[in-house]
Amino acid sequence: MTAVQVEHQAPLQRYNTFGIVAKAQRLARIRSAADILAVLADAELAALPKFVLGGGSNIVLTGDLRAVVLKVEIRGLRLVEETDRAWIVEAGAGERWHDAVQWTVDHGYPGLENLALIPGTVGAAPVQNIGAYGIELQDRFESLDAVDLQTGQPFTLNAAQCAFGYRDSVFKHPAAGPNDLGLAGRAVVTHVRFRLPRPWKPELDYADLARRQAENSGVPTPRQIFDWVCEIRRAKLPDPGVVGNAGSFFKNPTVSPEQCADIIAREPRIVHYPLPDGRIKLAAGWLIDACGWKGKSVGKAGVYEKQALVLVNRGQGADSVTGGEVMTLARAIQTSVYERFGIRLEPEPVVV
Ligand code: EPU
Repeated sequence: MTAVQVEHQAPLQRYNTFGIVAKAQRLARIRSAADILAVLADAELAALPKFVLGGGSNIVLTGDLRAVVLKVEIRGLRLVEETDRAWIVEAGAGERWHDAVQWTVDHGYPGLENLALIPGTVGAAPVQNIGAYGIELQDRFESLDAVDLQTGQPFTLNAAQCAFGYRDSVFKHPAAGPNDLGLAGRAVVTHVRFRLPRPWKPELDYADLARRQAENSGVPTPRQIFDWVCEIRRAKLPDPGVVGNAGSFFKNPTVSPEQCADIIAREPRIVHYPLPDGRIKLAAGWLIDACGWKGKSVGKAGVYEKQALVLVNRGQGADSVTGGEVMTLARAIQTSVYERFGIRLEPEPVVV
């Protein structure tokens, strides 16, 4: 087995989309499942805690990382199966998510176009069950391969085993007992396979896309939807390459119909959507906006002026926002929303 290359005191600013300055005491680049086994076989590294890093688009770093950072850089995109009912496409966990979506559209395997331009890597997509514009990853998921960091065993999970929920999966939950499948901190995803149903059908239910469709005639092509989603996102979300951010900072909360009726009685304009299970989803961005936070800052942490659900880095380079500033702003927002609406907002990114 080849020894894995380890960088010491590795700067992480380029590897987190907030652009927070922090270091990893040790960082190993993972280019294959064999590299994970090499880390686990290394006398020094084996005993240390591990932190799996994908595109760094969903983390807030509040200090240097003492765990060994496993930076997943496993590449590869290929069609693995084609039937009358679906294309099955496999992507390496280290591929950029948007590049993988673009590749499927370019090669004529549509179905992921509503998820264009989401920052991050393929491997992080199932962890988060990423979603946008009417589709969640779980709607296009076939299976994934991962390696267990405790045993070194490779394993494969199907959709049911991933226990997907709204921005949630088995990878976000620690094991509660010996028979519990919670995999937080325990697995490295190496490959993800997507099931892209045939015949392809456009998904245009989300209001922003329905509006585009109304302005155009006929059935749009996958490429058109891909372009629309890119335009919509560019118009209201900051480009992490220009303004550091981690996408939506809070999850959209859900409430019971009774709670919702109570809030509507006080706030008739509140943006809300009924869910299939009878509960009601509220737009967290609207709640934060209604509390007057849009465009405000605390230190170098700001609330994006076009979408109050996104917190941004108002600093640059060495003078960037700190994780502490981001969390101070996040807590101030949580307090305002709780005091006004009685709703506790839950952060989406992982705070480390
Ligand atoms: N709104 C406001 N003020 C704001 C922001 C939003 O009034 O400052 C209102 C909007 O007018 C709209 C509603 O809130 O009526 C919802 O806003 P939007 O369509 O922008 O979507 P969202 O619920 O804020 C979610 C996802 C996004 C995803 C979009 C599109 C979450 C936490 N966020 O945002 O995902 O791109 O829908 O599907 O579910 C992410 O997770 O990082 C992310 C960007």
